[in-house]
Amino acid sequence: NTVTGLVVAMDGPSGSGKSSASRGVARALGLRYLDTGAMYRAITWWVLRQGIALDDPAAIAARAAEPVLTMGTDPDAPSVAVDGTDVAGPIRTAEVTAAVSAVSAVPEVRRRLVAEQREIIGTGGIVVEGRDIGTVVAPGAPVKIYLTASADARAARRTAELTGTTVEAQKAAMARRDTLDSTRKTDPLAMADDAVELDTTPLNLDEVIAEVLRVIKEKV
Ligand code: DC
Repeated sequence: NTVTGLVVAMDGPSGSGKSSASRGVARALGLRYLDTGAMYRAITWWVLRQGIALDDPAAIAARAAEPVLTMGTDPDAPSVAVDGTDVAGPIRTAEVTAAVSAVSAVPEVRRRLVAEQREIIGTGGIVVEGRDIGTVVAPGAPVKIYLTASADARAARRTAELTGTTVEAQKAAMARRDTLDSTRKTDPLAMADDAVELDTTPLNLDEVIAEVLRVIKEKV
């Protein structure tokens, strides 16, 4: 089986369709799935709950090692827990989403999570989605995909997943988060030189999955 030990890096901005595509690809190939964004969200949830100020990176850095994260990597039932508490729901709130760029910009947070991500990847057999997987977490991954989509398509997808928001509000919030994620000093969102760029704007989910599977077949 040629996919045993395979690492597929799936990077791109929010709303590019990474999560659904990554899970679908993992399911199709019998691989594990890791959502690294959920790890940054989980730490952010904990930081907010502790009352640590978001504009105090030194305070965030000082306590970044405290919460214990547990990630489940089944693509049919991915899970995330902080100190034994399931936080899959709470990490998707608007409050966490608005705070996650500040927390994920703290180098100590990234250092910790990158180390844990490498540990989970282990000997491979996994699809890993994030912002810096192909560039920092798994630069040796044999398959790197960089998903993009137009700002309108990304905002429309995000709006469909959420309640109480509009496409315009989502577009503004995503633009703000993309700028923060792409311009931070430590491990910004970036496309690896050897990544295959895939614009998902005109594609439905099945088409995106098929295209990624085609790239994998070609590379492996
Ligand atoms: O994929 P997502 O929207 O759930 O990610 C949440 C935030 O986490 C995103 O704004 C940037 C950050 N992130 C990161 O800095 N590095 C990663 N590998 C994954 C996510």
